Amino acid sequence: MTKRTVVTMPGDGIGKPVLEEALRVLDAVGFEADYVHADIGWEFWVNEGNALPERTLKLLKEHRLGLFGAITSKPKDKAGAEISPALKDKGFVYYSPIVGLRQHFNLDLCIRPCRSFKGNPLNFIRRKGDGFEEPMVDVVIFRQNTEGLYAGVEWTDPPPNVREALGTHKKFARFADVKGDDLAVSTRIFTRQACNRIVREAFEYAKKFGYKSVTICEKPNVIRETSGMLEFEAKKVAGDFPGINLWSTNIDAQMMWLTKNPEDYGVIVAGNMFGDIVSDGFAGLVGGLGFANSANIGKDCAVFEPTHGSAPKYEKLDPPIVNPIAMVLSSCMMLDHIDETDKAKAIRDSIAKVIADGKVRSYDMMKLRGGPDAIGQGAATTTQVTDAIIANL
Ligand code: NAI
Ligand code: MG
Repeated sequence: MTKRTVVTMPGDGIGKPVLEEALRVLDAVGFEADYVHADIGWEFWVNEGNALPERTLKLLKEHRLGLFGAITSKPKDKAGAEISPALKDKGFVYYSPIVGLRQHFNLDLCIRPCRSFKGNPLNFIRRKGDGFEEPMVDVVIFRQNTEGLYAGVEWTDPPPNVREALGTHKKFARFADVKGDDLAVSTRIFTRQACNRIVREAFEYAKKFGYKSVTICEKPNVIRETSGMLEFEAKKVAGDFPGINLWSTNIDAQMMWLTKNPEDYGVIVAGNMFGDIVSDGFAGLVGGLGFANSANIGKDCAVFEPTHGSAPKYEKLDPPIVNPIAMVLSSCMMLDHIDETDKAKAIRDSIAKVIADGKVRSYDMMKLRGGPDAIGQGAATTTQVTDAIIANL
């Protein structure tokens, strides 16, 4: 196997320590790679007016494989107020660099596995009869990553031709008299090609890993055109996968059922917004943000990241106390992607053992309040959790 080059983008806050720990684990499992650092995040917005510098795009274009930590993101106005004085009022507009990255490289598939580890004190527990039961969840969410409500086609005070176009729809009549600044429109755009690709990839994944069902989680009874298109394509594709059931749920009902029968679901497909919601929902059943890992996969490039953010509350804590497992599991997804599946499995097994042994636990696993006191209360540091993973390899 040729030596890989991986672009590392630690970003902001806790993205930095967790990415460093993931690299230690990759080293320990014998994965040989060259790592090239790439800039992304808040300081590049403040100092350059661009949180996702051109040089970072260039590196990813060249090497096509990236590990990303987390970034700090703020609303447009707040970001504008914090840009360095020299760049103020020069026309710079803030955009989330991770959303930008997904769109720039058309990383249209977001895959978020949510699997319980045995012995994780954060696992979901359900009442049964006089006692409790702990269903093992093994769900993989396929979230469309580049379209839908996050595509960014939106206006406050839409220009006249947009208003005019909206006016051609009879349901717009109720809004026709709303004055300029009082009207905000965010569009939800789906394309057939992207719908088809994500459902096909989801079915392929289900087939490869032995999942019995693919569930489309949308809202086709109300959002008929876009949710409807995804469902339509799913029905078409399902015909090519005879052994796998196609199910359909509504996002709201799915969130309610989450705690009823999460173990019944296998692969779930949703648009950008609902995929974001349902994946957080399932992640909550298997340990939350400290465990939530993900892959952003396009045809030419793939970036792997924990789904948590930069956790500014904890970024100044030294030593860091956040859970590195979400980032380490994300790097396992990278290993799977480049067919280093044995190494990925070795890491996952060793994480499973650390959790089952229960001796080394970060503050979240101990259900402590995060903060400087956590270590005194018995929580392991970020580094100690990693050390324990490495010791099992
Ligand atoms: P967050 O994910 O950064 O943190 C929320 C809370 O979750 C933390 O305060 C902490 O209690 C817990 N947490 C997060 N990661 C953890 C870990 N590895 N181990 C243990 N506990 C962990 O979300 P928040 O506070 O909403 O956003 C903070 C910043 O991060 C914002 O600027 C936001 O825009 C950005 N963000 C970036 C994301 C990304 O880079 N992909 C995703 C989500 C938020
Ligand atoms: Mg999210």
